[in-house]
Amino acid sequence: MIKNLFLLGIGFFSISCQFPNNNKGPYFANGIKNGWADQNSIVLWTRLTQNNSAHFKGHPFIEISREKMKSLALNQDVEGIYNTQIPKGLSLKNMEGYCPGASGEVQLRYFLKEDPADAIVTDWVAVDSSKDFTHQWKLNGLQAGKKYGLKIYARPQKGRKISDSIFGQFLLPAYKKTAKDVKFCVVSCHDYNRRDDKQSGHKIYPSMSKLKPDFYVHTGDIEYMDKPFPYAMTEELMRFKWNRLFALPFQRSFYNNYTSYFMKDDHDVGYDDSYPGKDYGTVSFERGLQIFDEEQFPSNPKRYKTIRWGKDLQIWIVEGRNYRNQNYLEDGPDKTIWGKAQKQWFYDTVGASEATFKVLITSSPILGPDRKNKNDNLSNAGYSFEQAEILNFIKKQKNLFIVNGDRHWQYVTHLKNTNLWEFGCGAGADIHAGGWKQEDFRPEHQFLRVKGGFLSVSVNATKEPTIKFTHHDVEGNVVNEVVF
Ligand SMILES: [Fe+2]
Repeated sequence: MIKNLFLLGIGFFSISCQFPNNNKGPYFANGIKNGWADQNSIVLWTRLTQNNSAHFKGHPFIEISREKMKSLALNQDVEGIYNTQIPKGLSLKNMEGYCPGASGEVQLRYFLKEDPADAIVTDWVAVDSSKDFTHQWKLNGLQAGKKYGLKIYARPQKGRKISDSIFGQFLLPAYKKTAKDVKFCVVSCHDYNRRDDKQSGHKIYPSMSKLKPDFYVHTGDIEYMDKPFPYAMTEELMRFKWNRLFALPFQRSFYNNYTSYFMKDDHDVGYDDSYPGKDYGTVSFERGLQIFDEEQFPSNPKRYKTIRWGKDLQIWIVEGRNYRNQNYLEDGPDKTIWGKAQKQWFYDTVGASEATFKVLITSSPILGPDRKNKNDNLSNAGYSFEQAEILNFIKKQKNLFIVNGDRHWQYVTHLKNTNLWEFGCGAGADIHAGGWKQEDFRPEHQFLRVKGGFLSVSVNATKEPTIKFTHHDVEGNVVNEVVF
C-alpha cells in the first residue's frame, strides 16, 4: 500500500524478468545513493545484485599501452577491448570487482527519524533490467530541516521471501528563515584503482563521517573510464566500473547515510576533456552522459539546481558537460561550457537570493590557475570570453564564493583587489594527486598543496554569521582554513 500520494516512482518496470533459480538474493551490494535534495523532496537510487558483495578477490585486469587503448577505441574493436585486458580463458565474471545485477523487486519504507512508527511504505516494484537493475524513487511532500530514516527491502519476485534489506538516512535543508549552523564536504577525482585503503575504499569517507556534515557534494571524476584496469570502452565495462566502485565498504556506508549531490565530469562520461562528438570506444558522448544522468546516479530532469540550506547558505550546483559545445572551437561569445539557459538561470537565481553566503559549486575551475596546455575549463585561455562574463557577474555579488573540483591539487586562489575567491578541493587520495608543482606558488595562490583530501565548508549562524573553508588531508586533519 502506498500511504503517500506524493510518492512518484520514476523507474520503469523491467521488460524481461529472469528470476534467479535459487533461494539466495537478490542483494544490495551497491547500497543506496540519494541526490537532488531540497526542502521537500529527494531522489533515492538503488540496484539489485546477484551477490551481497563484489567479487573483490577476482583476477586482475591486464594493462595495455595508451597507444593500444586509443587504437582499440578508434576502431571500436569490441573483441580486442576484452581480449587484450582479460586473460585468456577468463571472462568478465572472473575479474576483480565483478558485481552483476539481478532481477527482482524492491520496496521502500521511510519515516521521520523522530517518529519511526509512522512510516510510509511503497508498493513493491521491479528493478529496471534495461537500466542495470536499478530503481529510483522521487519522494515529495517531505518536511524541511528534518532527518529521515529509510529501509529498502529486496525479494526475487512476488510471493517470495525478502532476500535482503538495507538501512539509510538523509537530512533535508531548512527553509530560508531558519538560522542554523550548516556544514558540508566537497570531494573530487577518485577511482577504484587509486583507492588508499585496499580493503575498504577511500579514507576520505570515514574522515568526512567524523565531521558529521549536513550534506556532501562530489564534483565529478568519481570514476575514470579512460584509465586502465580496465579501460571502459563499452557500456558493459562502464557499468562494471560503476558497480565495482560503489560496492566498496567505505563508499557504501557513507552514501547510505548522508545527503549527497553527485556532479559529473569528463572521465565519468568517457574520455579526458570530453565534449559532444568525443566518443569513447563504442560509447558515444551522449550515451556516457545518459548512463550517468539516468541510470547510475539519482536523476533529475535538469542537471543544475540551487538549494537554500537555511537562512545563511545557498548553494548552486552547475553542470559542466551536458551544455557545452566543442572544446576545439575558436574562443568567442558563443563558445560555452555552461550553455545559455543555465547561465541565465544562474544570474537570475543569484540575483534573487538573500542568503548571507552563496557558494557556487562547479566541477572544474573558473579562476584557476591551471596548466597552460589545458583547453577544457573556464580558467583556460580557450574560454576567456565566458570566463570574463561569469566573473564580471560574480564581482558584483556580495559573499559569493567558488568551490571546484577537477584539479588534482588543493588550492585557494584570490585575485587581489577583487572579491573573487576559489577553493579547489583537490583529489580524493594522495596517489591521485599531481598535475601541479608544489614549488609553483603563484601570486594569486593563498594556499597550495599537491596532495589528496577534501574540503569542508562551515557556516556559523551567529548574530554575525561566518563561513569557513577548510582543506583537510585524507585523514581529516586540517591543512588550511579561511574564514569570512
Ligand atoms: Fe580528475
